[in-house]
Amino acid sequence: MLKKTTLSILLAASLSVGATPAWAAPEANLPSDQAFDNKIVKRIKVDNIYNHIAKLSEKPRVAGTPGEDVAVEYIKSQFESYGYDTEVQPFEIYSYTTPSLIELEVDGITFEPAPLDFSYGVDGEVTAELVYAGKGAPSDFEGKDVQGKIALIERGDFSFAVKILNAANAGAAGVIIYNNATGVLNGTLGEPNDDYVPAVAITKDQGVALKERLDKGETIEATLKLEGAKTDRAISHNVVATKEATHKSTGEMILVGAHHDSVDGAPGANDDASGTATVLELARVFANAPTDTDIRFVTFGAEENGLLGSYEFVERMTEEDYERTVGMFQMDMVGSKGAGDLIMYTNDGEKNIVTDLGAAAGARLSKTGEATSYGMEGRSDHVPFAEIGLPAALFIHAPVEPWYHTPEDTLDKISKEKLKEVSNIVGAAVYQVARPDTPALENAKVAPKNVDYNFEEREL
Ligand code: BES
Ligand code: ZN
Repeated sequence: MLKKTTLSILLAASLSVGATPAWAAPEANLPSDQAFDNKIVKRIKVDNIYNHIAKLSEKPRVAGTPGEDVAVEYIKSQFESYGYDTEVQPFEIYSYTTPSLIELEVDGITFEPAPLDFSYGVDGEVTAELVYAGKGAPSDFEGKDVQGKIALIERGDFSFAVKILNAANAGAAGVIIYNNATGVLNGTLGEPNDDYVPAVAITKDQGVALKERLDKGETIEATLKLEGAKTDRAISHNVVATKEATHKSTGEMILVGAHHDSVDGAPGANDDASGTATVLELARVFANAPTDTDIRFVTFGAEENGLLGSYEFVERMTEEDYERTVGMFQMDMVGSKGAGDLIMYTNDGEKNIVTDLGAAAGARLSKTGEATSYGMEGRSDHVPFAEIGLPAALFIHAPVEPWYHTPEDTLDKISKEKLKEVSNIVGAAVYQVARPDTPALENAKVAPKNVDYNFEEREL
């Protein structure tokens, strides 16, 4: 991968704005603006997207499991059926099996509701006194006797893994972390580590009640038990279909992505079969479209494990790939009936060429006729691209649906209307650069002049 210093020089060079692009029309919504979109928009069939979601969401697609393999095969065969050269990029990840038994007993009474485990945590059984250790900073353990005891730690400030390692380092034999907000704490340690001690997550109310008793000087004895946790090596995959320019090539490349994996127990109809299905339908439509740029359609694996597929993809990009990539469009959760309106998120909260194009396409094609607004958020596969200095944005509906990451993320909650709007906007935005009659984008790194779009701080 390229070093950031090299990248920022490249980026600075690419940002020096040249001539005003031909597509920067003087006024919004000229019929001619809409006319070029039609080439793509009229061909997008929302039923195709819906049917892909139906297929993909039959079962969870957890990275590194047979569920992912089935999805990868499906995506690959679809790309191939549209005539694409398709590459599958395998990469190693850790897979994790949730313990069959997770138990916490306080004063001999079983804790209800039961605590949760942390992904990549370890098994074990510990009976010991509880010691309150703040947020689990090294200083929180100073002057405290936690040797062989169970540390009670509040969520916040550090990762769960760091808290557990700090506790283990101070001699604790177990850890209980309580939430700092309402709701359950379903956390991950990111990766396995031999130095972890057994740890569970409890709710804020449960944790605060224990802390208050400790503050009063009470001694609390607890038993913490985890059985059947298992971390293994597994293989996840990215699927990459490349369309080469059909006309005299500008040499540029556009990336259109989504993640095909889901979380454990969730069919992931919206997260992110919706984005994956939209990538497939755009790939089908673009297969026969005239373009003077290359387009790479990518579905990423192991996004839910920490954006691993997109980091892998970026790692594999050559310097040439990097230099000719003009933008990355990520679609994640683009079809839920239970979510808000479309927004584009960048990792740094700044506009870029992708949001410029998305906003302009929104002004032409959104249901309100308004330019799509933008905001600042990471949490999806646009992040690794942004981190190496490429313009990238996440297209998502916000606020997100309440059943995000649950077994309720099912097909019946998918809105064809939302799918249609997002596929139109992203398809048209991509085509604005890719169609043969536009100037090369290095001369066009400016927003279409007529499109004003706003930063929005919207609840997720
Ligand atoms: N689809 C979500 C991203 C998301 C959810 C963005 C809600 C904004 C609001 C994505 O699949 C996801 O769950 N990402 C993880 C982070 C990732 C680095 C593991 C998350 O947000 O917890
Ligand atoms: Zn997602």
